[in-house]
Amino acid sequence: MAKINKNYLKLPGSYLFSAIGKKVNDYKEANPDANIIRLGIGDVTRPIAPAIIDTLHGAVNEMGEEASFRGYAPDLGYEFLRKAISDFDYKSRNCDISADEIFVSDGAKCDCGNIQEIFGMNNTIAVCDPVYPVYVDSNVMAGRTGDYDAETGRYDGVIYLPCTADNGFVPELPKEVPDLIYLCFPNNPTGAVIDKTRLQEWVDYANKNDSIILYDAAYESYISEDDIPHSIYECEGAKECAIEFRSFSKTAGFTGLRLGYTVIPKELETEGEKLWPLWARRHGTKYNGAPYIIQRAGEAVYSKEGRRQVMEQIAYYMGNAKYIYDGLKDCGYEVYGGVNAPYIWLKTPDKMTSWEFFDYLLKKANVVGTPGVGFGPKGEGYFRLTAFGSRENTLAAIDRIKTL
Ligand code: MLT
Repeated sequence: MAKINKNYLKLPGSYLFSAIGKKVNDYKEANPDANIIRLGIGDVTRPIAPAIIDTLHGAVNEMGEEASFRGYAPDLGYEFLRKAISDFDYKSRNCDISADEIFVSDGAKCDCGNIQEIFGMNNTIAVCDPVYPVYVDSNVMAGRTGDYDAETGRYDGVIYLPCTADNGFVPELPKEVPDLIYLCFPNNPTGAVIDKTRLQEWVDYANKNDSIILYDAAYESYISEDDIPHSIYECEGAKECAIEFRSFSKTAGFTGLRLGYTVIPKELETEGEKLWPLWARRHGTKYNGAPYIIQRAGEAVYSKEGRRQVMEQIAYYMGNAKYIYDGLKDCGYEVYGGVNAPYIWLKTPDKMTSWEFFDYLLKKANVVGTPGVGFGPKGEGYFRLTAFGSRENTLAAIDRIKTL
């Protein structure tokens, strides 16, 4: 008899955003006239920038000509894109990351989920609480955690790092040393950032204890303040202890195009083994590369015009973030994030639970957000709104909330 992977049975319910989608669809079915505004999942709404669209058209045409047609992409990504990433995202920030330390993929979510495959089952993992669910769920599926405890909302065997208003949503260094540490800054869901001194402490801690940091920097382009690191490799010694994930989804609106990358420095090793060849082997075996036309579109993000247009989009979303932040603050909410990140994290009013507030907003204002508890037990009593809506919808949503 075929056997299933029983680890999947430890996962309660469905993936957070699917569960929310279902709840909202059920509500809409029962209330067909409701004009629902969705500020739940962080999905972009601005169309792809014109410079990128032009490049996409050109690349599509190339695929129709014998002389310029391309088949399988190189396993680790086209050199033109890897070089643009290395020059623009790293060398321009004095980070010594070369093109061949970059692995192009179809997005950071897949890479964050898949990276655990190159690590043994006997690693302990540490995650922030609240946390982007992919880090935990992918380790549960692999069998690296114990059972889910419905009372605490936690999995046995996982080290949870509380991120609360008291610590500015930046976790303290844990006493129990984890082997793998997931960090995400600017943070999803809280919108918090980590300054260079604090990040350096994490790098030093990882190097001292032989831990590896899995650093998700998907929201890096939303950083507006000067002293906030864009990459973990801005810290000394990070090439000896960190893997970094980046995404074009939020930077350039590629949630529907799909493009991201992972950086594994050549010197990064554990147990005397380099990690670069392991991930290269996994990539080569299980992945055929992001499509040529999408990688060309990614290259266009780094062109002068592409960059300018993409920055305009980011400014648009951050205009939304400011409207949400100020609007909520004005009507007495306790609000966080929204300055260096496209997420606004708010305390629910009147001691409502996250899901009570979700239902309340859906029913009374027809506005959808994400219940904080969906990201972990320390998210209980909080709620996340995204700045990725259209300006019109964002203004309408906040105006509706103000009248409640
Ligand atoms: C989110 O809403 O947290 C993100 O859109 C999820 C993702 O990027 O996968």
